[in-house]
Amino acid sequence: MTDTSITIALSKGRILDETIPLLKEAGIEFVDDIKKSRKLVFPSTDPNVRLLIIRATDVPTYVQYGGADLGVTGKDVLMEHGGAGLYEPLDLNISRCRLMTAGVKGQPAPQGRLRVATKFVNLARRYYAAQGRQADIIKLYGAMELAPLLGLADEIVDIVDTGNTLKANGLEPRELIENISTRLVANRASMKMKHAMLQPIIEKMGQAVEARR
Ligand code: ATP
Ligand code: PRP
Ligand code: MG
Repeated sequence: MTDTSITIALSKGRILDETIPLLKEAGIEFVDDIKKSRKLVFPSTDPNVRLLIIRATDVPTYVQYGGADLGVTGKDVLMEHGGAGLYEPLDLNISRCRLMTAGVKGQPAPQGRLRVATKFVNLARRYYAAQGRQADIIKLYGAMELAPLLGLADEIVDIVDTGNTLKANGLEPRELIENISTRLVANRASMKMKHAMLQPIIEKMGQAVEARR
């Protein structure tokens, strides 16, 4: 990471598709065909900017430790990470969804200790503690919707968009934990040391977001 170059960590998957047009308006485009490439680091049309395509959950970590100056990831992922070492200069208003609790339809959560399955273990622990409810958190890496059906958990904490996945698996949404959207994050040191280079990118992406509202 030299002082004249900037690295931006992008989340692969649905966030990437919606990030590309916003980056374009900041003058940053891929030169490679990313669908065909096996690269993880890509040059961009801005000679000072390189792009990483990584898992959304790894973006805060790369930005926190300065592997990347900027990053794009979901608020859910940032809440789970905790946000240490990060600024959050922009809400990109894309990949909007809700972080919710859910359980088997018509089968209310038990009064006492709850078993909660989720990939958001830190966030879930904080949430139930703040509600004053005792919860044993069970870590899963995907398909959380299965856990209540198979008797693994009383509730899950997961992303809900249309609600179709819950419905298709006999679950019902319960409490809203947070409205989620994708955020631009920045390394705290980079924000000071590379301010002159980062600020125009943040501003132009912000204008692109506003133009879409
Ligand atoms: P991986 O597939 O690598 O385990 P992931 O499932 O978190 O990761 P995505 O499904 O692309 O990857 O989700 C990335 C982010 O997009 C999430 O962190 C969340 O902010 C948002 N998101 C997830 N699911 C939806 C959805 N159904 N609708 C809208 N936004 C979503
Ligand atoms: C996400 C999320 C939910 C689903 C919610 O899954 O994990 O399962 O979307 O969306 P819905 O309310 O519109 O049904 P995704 O499609 O990302 O699959 P994944 O399990 O591979 O992450
Ligand atoms: Mg997903």
